[in-house]
Amino acid sequence: MSDRYAVIGNPVAHSKSPSIHAEFARATGQDIDYGRIEAPLDAFAASVERFRGSGGKGLNVTLPFKQEASRMCVRVSSRARLAQAVNTLRFEDSYGDNTDGIGLIRDLSQNLNLPLNGRSVLLLGAGGAAQGVAGALLESGIGRLVIANRTVPRAQALARRFAGAAARGYRALEGERFDIIINATSAGLADEAPPLPESLFGKAVLAYDMVYGRDTPFLAAARRAGARTCDGLGMLVEQAAESFFVWRGVRPATRPVLAKLRGS
Ligand code: ATR
Repeated sequence: MSDRYAVIGNPVAHSKSPSIHAEFARATGQDIDYGRIEAPLDAFAASVERFRGSGGKGLNVTLPFKQEASRMCVRVSSRARLAQAVNTLRFEDSYGDNTDGIGLIRDLSQNLNLPLNGRSVLLLGAGGAAQGVAGALLESGIGRLVIANRTVPRAQALARRFAGAAARGYRALEGERFDIIINATSAGLADEAPPLPESLFGKAVLAYDMVYGRDTPFLAAARRAGARTCDGLGMLVEQAAESFFVWRGVRPATRPVLAKLRGS
């Protein structure tokens, strides 16, 4: 019988993870079966235990359960500890990892071919998504990280946890210059954008929205100002590949899968 994995979240119906992992399995010859589990908001732990009890080998965890997942592990990776969130559970040793940050770094540096060394980076948002990638950004060799958020004390609290990060409100960004602007807010899901000074985009090399599959107002504004733009689909594929590696010890090629998802 195939080894069983799944993505667990709420909602999870539109997750692309099952098809991504099916492609990885086919390409690497790994015999796995990857499904999806919608856990009731108040029964995440019970849903995980049911899957584990029925022979499941591991789970990808998505919103809103990543923090809860980190509390279920006997051991977590240092990157999951930094993120205070787990997106990958491996049952055989009750291990939790977080592959979101490395997924973003690989998408930027490999798929988008953007060297990160010395870059000035603006990270928008101070919720779970921003927290999940701040540590990986700082470890990637960038020159400067500024975290900006609508609720400034949240940005300050996040920046305090990461040596080398600074915090700002959006209005205080006027006159600043960043090479890469990463939108880790959920504003795009409501068809809104953080209120950034438009001048920022004109100076940026790349505007990146971690949301995927929609042209967010953030991306549209960046494009109007002449910046190169990208959504988070590549990050999704890269974090999946790293999870696949954590479970199977095999690193799948990501470019063909990303190209297929983009329909090119
Ligand atoms: P997630 O886990 O997706 O990061 P979250 O923890 O609820 O979700 O955080 C959402 C983030 O998006 C926060 O940084 C939030 O800003 P506040 O902390 O000020 O609430 C940001 N956000 C959501 N809607 C936004 C909007 N319309 N404009 C600007 N920022 C927004």
